[in-house]
Amino acid sequence: MDKLIGQNEKEGGMKKNINLDSPDPGGQYLNKVGLLLESLPYIKEYSDKVVIVKMGGSMMEDDNTIQSVLDDIILMKYVGIKVILIHGGGKQITQMMAEKGIKAEFVDGLRVTSSEAINIVKMVLIGSINTKIVSLLNLHGNMAVGVSGNDANFIICRKKELIRKGKKVDLGYVGDIEKIDKGFLENILSNNHIPVIATLGVDHSGNTYNINADTCASAITVALKAKKMILLTDVDGIMEGVNGLISKLTIRQCKEMIRNGKISSGMIPKVKACISALEKGSERTHILNGTKKHSIIIEIFTDRGIGTMITKKEVK
Ligand SMILES: Nc1ncnc2c1ncn2[C@@H]1O[C@H](COP(=O)(O)OP(=O)(O)OP(=O)(O)O)[C@@H](O)[C@H]1O
Ligand SMILES: [Mg+2]
Repeated sequence: MDKLIGQNEKEGGMKKNINLDSPDPGGQYLNKVGLLLESLPYIKEYSDKVVIVKMGGSMMEDDNTIQSVLDDIILMKYVGIKVILIHGGGKQITQMMAEKGIKAEFVDGLRVTSSEAINIVKMVLIGSINTKIVSLLNLHGNMAVGVSGNDANFIICRKKELIRKGKKVDLGYVGDIEKIDKGFLENILSNNHIPVIATLGVDHSGNTYNINADTCASAITVALKAKKMILLTDVDGIMEGVNGLISKLTIRQCKEMIRNGKISSGMIPKVKACISALEKGSERTHILNGTKKHSIIIEIFTDRGIGTMITKKEVK
């Protein structure tokens, strides 16, 4: 097997000493030390804090991309951040539905989920994507625990009621979160594990519902009073026509962009998730391109912003 990120020469008993007689002892290594020291304020700020990362199904088509994001997650974990990883699986669900002859249909970015579709959602999210992420993280030690809302009923939901243009829209088995059992997640974190969450929920009668993963990330951010919520997707952030990427937006500006149709499809639940988290106490929420290498690390450990940051009020 290839060397895992984080494995070093020392583990193989081969760590070499720096030659102190060379003209520039340490040389290139001092640059690395400098980089580490630069990130120290951020490590201090985030160590022991909860950070929520949601990986969109859109950015999980390529195994190298998934691995690169998981490398970042592992780094976060080893500097003491309590990471909770939530994943979507939109493209993969649509593909499996197509194989079974079911056409995917969306309303405001939410998947209409029939009884056949909910079975496919379960298969893809729990059976395929969740186990894959857990296995990859566990190559670094027994750190990841895969769960879905059905486990210990930790995500209780009810059937979503959507009114659009004054009319009720039936989305089938799409859930609205009623309650998150935060103690369930805190227990996993206090055992030094990373919860990896497939976003299904259960109602009081034991029916399983599909919950949009952005919406779920937001509810978990609020329940655990997380320091940051990062939504990773397949675009650089929120884009606006010729202006391209918008790096900072306020709640008010986001609402306006939804109203005038500049934010559409899968970006709607994402932005609504950020708005909801901010309105319920979060300080900062981010939408980043998960296909760009180490975007999370740049966001958390450097003074450079990346992607779109959404805040309650304007920030300088
Ligand atoms: N203003 C906008 N800026 C950027 N992307 C937008 C905008 N409006 C709509 N989108 C669309 O939103 C998509 C991202 O949402 P989508 O639901 O497809 O992916 P995801 O949430 O990352 O994956 P999953 O739903 O599987 O978790 C982008 O690929 C883009 O097509
Ligand atoms: Mg989506």
